[in-house]
Amino acid sequence: MSDFAEAFGRSPDVVAHAPGRVNLIGEHTDYSGGFVLPMAIPQRTTVSLAHRNDGRVRAMSMNVAQREPITFELGHERKQGSWIDYVQGTIVALRAAGHLTAGFDALIESAVPVGSGLSSSAALEVGLLRALRQAFVLDLADVALAKIGRAAETDFVGAPVGIMDQMASSLADAKNALFIDTRSLAYERVPLPTDVEIAVLDSGIAHDHAAGDYRTRRKECERAAELLGVRELRDVDDVGRTASLPAPLDRRARHVVTENARVLEAVLAMRENDPLRVGRLFDASHASLRDDFEVSVPGVDRLVALAQAHPDVLGARMTGGGFGGAIVALVRQGRAGEAAHDIARAYSSRHRGHARILVPEGKA
Ligand code: GLA
Repeated sequence: MSDFAEAFGRSPDVVAHAPGRVNLIGEHTDYSGGFVLPMAIPQRTTVSLAHRNDGRVRAMSMNVAQREPITFELGHERKQGSWIDYVQGTIVALRAAGHLTAGFDALIESAVPVGSGLSSSAALEVGLLRALRQAFVLDLADVALAKIGRAAETDFVGAPVGIMDQMASSLADAKNALFIDTRSLAYERVPLPTDVEIAVLDSGIAHDHAAGDYRTRRKECERAAELLGVRELRDVDDVGRTASLPAPLDRRARHVVTENARVLEAVLAMRENDPLRVGRLFDASHASLRDDFEVSVPGVDRLVALAQAHPDVLGARMTGGGFGGAIVALVRQGRAGEAAHDIARAYSSRHRGHARILVPEGKA
């Protein structure tokens, strides 16, 4: 019997998937209206769903110890401080956007690691929204769907995130990067240079976004924009202007302004098939996140340094919100699996760290 049938005593009407994402470059720019360049990872979240005729929702996750559906009534969502909040938040945001659904039974199963900066929460929101779109025949385009997923986090869960993760999960694939202008939400697929591939390693140091640091950075960016007299830091072109700000806002703003420029240059370099330049931009992005934006941690810096020192790696950086989580490396074509192994081995022998290889998949 399938897990769904065991949990709910019937078969699902629909089965939908949504991937996690790795951000190549453009970190902590999306809540300043800036540029980002994520791509999908092979790991994804699967949502099996059957509609109901009443207003009850029953949802179960295969990723937690408690193998029992959690039940709530539509319109009576209450924060519980667990994964179910993402389900509740998604429903609340979907209904607030005018898409009415009845109740449903849903089973969630995810291969996207939690706490690694690879957007397990966006994969859950987008996977659930795709399942609901199909089951209830909702008129919901992919960008609108991403916006609803984001609203679930900002308005219900209470994590003041930008829109990158939901846009990536809704629109990106695992072959191309997705260049997004997070102000206009215009996006474009940009293929990776032909002779490189991506490796992603989880540092094993877990992060927690909803926690204060992300919120503090966001506030610092908003304050910096206010002091500079612009709507958002996206509107600052001349990095010299950031020097007039009091510390640490000067460094925070300098990161955002230079990171936006690095995304634009990376897109150009990718179009010109210049992987060496893209690699150098990865390295510069990490230095900026570590020294100016201060969202890295020593363990992640060590893992990045090992990656950068590897002969087949063209560049490496932390990826995602930071304070732990995963790193991304740009590696010569055909070498990502082996390079990732070398890096993980060096991390454990020199620093007693336990890095997990997430991309290429199946190389752990
Ligand atoms: C998290 C947020 C995103 C983005 C990144 C940092 O993943 O969900 O919106 O701000 O951090 O780039």
